[in-house]
Amino acid sequence: MSDRKGFGLLKGKKGIIFGALDERSIAWRIALACHREGAEFSLSNAPIALRLGALDKLAEETNSRIFPCDVSDEENVAELMNSLKEEHGAIDFVLHAIGMSPNIRKNKKYTDIEYNWYNQTLDISAISLHKILNHADKAGILNDGGSVIALSYIGAQRIFSKYTDMNDAKALLESIARNYGSRLAERGIRVNTVSQAPTKTSAGSGIKGFDGMYTFADKIAPMGNPTADECADYCVTLFSDLTKKVTMQNLYHDGGFVTAGISEEMIEGLAKLYADEE
Ligand SMILES: NC(=O)c1ccc[n+]([C@@H]2O[C@H](COP(=O)([O-])OP(=O)(O)OC[C@H]3O[C@@H](n4cnc5c(N)ncnc54)[C@H](O)[C@@H]3O)[C@@H](O)[C@H]2O)c1
Repeated sequence: MSDRKGFGLLKGKKGIIFGALDERSIAWRIALACHREGAEFSLSNAPIALRLGALDKLAEETNSRIFPCDVSDEENVAELMNSLKEEHGAIDFVLHAIGMSPNIRKNKKYTDIEYNWYNQTLDISAISLHKILNHADKAGILNDGGSVIALSYIGAQRIFSKYTDMNDAKALLESIARNYGSRLAERGIRVNTVSQAPTKTSAGSGIKGFDGMYTFADKIAPMGNPTADECADYCVTLFSDLTKKVTMQNLYHDGGFVTAGISEEMIEGLAKLYADEE
């Protein structure tokens, strides 16, 4: 975490953070930043991810409890909301930082995917946001004026071949955020996606060709790729009361990548690379 002091931006706020696996996880960095800003929260991850025990360290550091939950199991999600009710009464923020594609893990091409795995990709990485909001709302634990963030990637808008079915999952995730956001808006609850640049995490590095995608984005973005800690600072602002009317948006956190064309450095590099062909 950056050694900056907090601003107390989340003082008095309670929340749930999904998806911290190890120190590199974006959710891990967000948990540290939320703690720095005075928030109280619980952590959740799939039981299988908790077996390694890495999350205990984060729980200790942030004074939080861990609740196992496999988001592909609706009953499990419903049970989690009851546990959160007992733990916090109600919550003000939700971080969805969950992504998984069996097709990517097994190196399946987009044109050769296994459909049961495709369903799992969509279920775990996107539909889970719907399930979480639905069951949180049913359990009556979402405070008015709260804020929900799901982490996305520009593969929702553009084709990144190595990201295969996760491109589709992110498009669905962003759509669910918009649609749920419209339903919760009258209660002042914001729902946004933050489209983060390639970041070196366990999920990121699991993608074949990730290094190429990382370098490509880093070279084109005028500010370069933002780190997970920088993403965490941005998410703090969205959880805070300083962004109360920002909702149903896909917000790019990518150093300017999305609107950049090509950089001078890349033009020069490519000119050298393809010199023989010109
Ligand atoms: N790393 C990147 O380059 C990048 C870029 C943009 C967006 N994102 C998104 O950020 C989010 C966090 O990913 P990360 O890069 O920090 O990697 P990560 O591997 O640290 O986090 C992914 C998390 O999803 C959890 N998960 C998987 N299946 C689950 C299930 N069934 N139930 C509950 N949790 C489950 C994993 O245990 C893990 O904690 C993901 O949505 C990812 O797509 C990542």
